[in-house]
Amino acid sequence: MTGGTGYIGSHTVVELQQAGYSVVIIDNLSNSNIEVLDGIERITGIRPDFVKADCTDMAAVEKLFVEYPGIKGIINFAASKAVGESMQKPLLYYRNNLNTLMNLLDAMPRHGVKGIVFSSSCTVYGEPDENPVTEQAPIKKATSPYGNTKQISEEIITDVINSGAPIKSVILRYFNPVGAHPSAEIGELPNGVPQNLVPFLTQTAAGIRPMLSVFGDDYNTPDGSCIRDYINVVDLAKAHVIAVERMLEDKSEAPIEIFNLGTGTGLSVLELIAAFERATGVKVPHKIAARRPGDIEKVWANPKYANEVLGWRAETPIDDTMRSAWAWQQHLGALRKA
Ligand code: UD1
Repeated sequence: MTGGTGYIGSHTVVELQQAGYSVVIIDNLSNSNIEVLDGIERITGIRPDFVKADCTDMAAVEKLFVEYPGIKGIINFAASKAVGESMQKPLLYYRNNLNTLMNLLDAMPRHGVKGIVFSSSCTVYGEPDENPVTEQAPIKKATSPYGNTKQISEEIITDVINSGAPIKSVILRYFNPVGAHPSAEIGELPNGVPQNLVPFLTQTAAGIRPMLSVFGDDYNTPDGSCIRDYINVVDLAKAHVIAVERMLEDKSEAPIEIFNLGTGTGLSVLELIAAFERATGVKVPHKIAARRPGDIEKVWANPKYANEVLGWRAETPIDDTMRSAWAWQQHLGALRKA
């Protein structure tokens, strides 16, 4: 697994181990922390193998497959993911996200690796013409280099598999992953000021930030704030276990399968804040601020295809997810004080 010490990666390691898989993580720790391995071990009792290396380095990727000849499948989480930063540093995004993918695709057939699960995003749909969004919705022109890397990555995978490469892929389009493992041993570790809503919200609730800004209340939505499909990160992680199994056990219906991973329910920013306050009893000071440039007004998933074909469903209630995010924030606070 590339990027296995990151937010979604670490939760997926736990689910894979609990399903009986052995996991090797390759990560350059550019946006994660080695101590995540301790958190994983405390949950599952198993320390995953770890290789500190950068997947944009082809020699490092080759070395990994030589050292671990048993690798049968890859989940590729290693990518830069901050929309704003990608506007400032486009080459960093194209280099990291695309070279990593191309190196893996190149090496896989030589080392008998059957398939790759790829982390894509609902960002490929842009501002959708209708909600909920199915996998057939048109791909809209990307509004950031980050979003463009997801679109190009999907195309690269498609072209490589169509060229006859003996590999399979499951492309997972995530909606908005939030929350943390219920044990509070692992969660999202934002670097600096969080750009995403939930880490900013929990830091505000903890008093680290004075005020959460709600970016816009004049959108064409019932309460005027933007709507997203917030999916619990453990539910999301579980879908990867099923995706890996499909590829390794030849259950896929086609060499490339694409699934939306969302709950099917849209929540506005104000509704999410209310859910957090209701679930935790903690108030979140917030104010209405200007719209954030580039934001989508509303997007939520039609997860029917994933529900039916994968036999998977995002089932954690949002209140539980908010409690898990808060427990993780408190765990981080306790670490900081220790
Ligand atoms: C963004 C990207 C998405 C990417 C994801 C992961 C876009 C359109 N989408 O999702 O492709 O995969 O980040 O990093 O860029 N909000 C506030 N106040 C805040 C922060 C956020 O009101 O302080 C609002 C936003 O306006 C938005 C919602 O909360 O309506 C969710 O924002 P965020 O968590 O940043 O995720 P997205 O922008 O949906």
